[in-house]
Amino acid sequence: MQAEINGIDKKNLVEAFAVSCTYHAGDSCVAAVADVSCAIAAGQRIALVGASGSGKTSLLHLLGGLISPTAGTVRWPAMETKQANLLRSRSFIFQNPSLLPPLTILENTELPMLLTGEGEALARLRAQNELEQVGMIALANKLPEELSGGQAQRVAAARALSIRPALLLADEPTGQLDRQTGLELIDRILRAADYTGAAVIIATHDEDVAARMQRIWRMSRGKLEVDH
Ligand SMILES: Nc1ncnc2c1ncn2[C@@H]1O[C@H](COP(=O)(O)OP(=O)(O)O)[C@@H](O)[C@H]1O
Ligand SMILES: [Mg+2]
Repeated sequence: MQAEINGIDKKNLVEAFAVSCTYHAGDSCVAAVADVSCAIAAGQRIALVGASGSGKTSLLHLLGGLISPTAGTVRWPAMETKQANLLRSRSFIFQNPSLLPPLTILENTELPMLLTGEGEALARLRAQNELEQVGMIALANKLPEELSGGQAQRVAAARALSIRPALLLADEPTGQLDRQTGLELIDRILRAADYTGAAVIIATHDEDVAARMQRIWRMSRGKLEVDH
């Protein structure tokens, strides 16, 4: 496994210190994440498991910097030194549909590479390769609306892997796939991570998916229990 990826060193990719995320709606408030501390280092494979509503999506969004904590601090020590690499250092597979409707499957997969400055020819080649790896190349010229939920999830995985992130955050990426296809997708994600040395955190309900990971983090009502 490579020690460095995109110039990022071995310091923790992300660290959370006493982080909370509280949502307010009218008079009520929900503590989706409550006083969580954790860290992810290069190459780690983590399953984030817990009942629906336990805070998995909120924690992934905090660790990826998509939302700010309402208390506590999230830092990305290994990424701060190389600003140019910041955008391509983290990648998400979202729980909800996230492909852009007007773009074809191929264009959707190329987009993050083009946005982070990759040349068009290389972006196209890599997008085609990633789609091939998840069995979606035959649908490259289709629009997202022509895909099933499971097919869209596989494209979203190809898109996330295409930028070769240092940290991949995947939110129930097999939720709409049958068991066999789901496990194949997890294998593809882990093979890609082996190749680049990326860290992977996958939120999942599936114990078979969790069993493929090195360690399991369990969430319950916003609290995190970390097995080492
Ligand atoms: N944008 C939001 N506004 C209000 N409440 C939210 C929002 N997002 C999540 N929640 C609430 O926070 C809790 C945790 O949600 P979430 O992080 O999506 O958990 P999980 O991914 O484990 O299902 C749930 O009670 C959910 O209803
Ligand atoms: Mg969720």
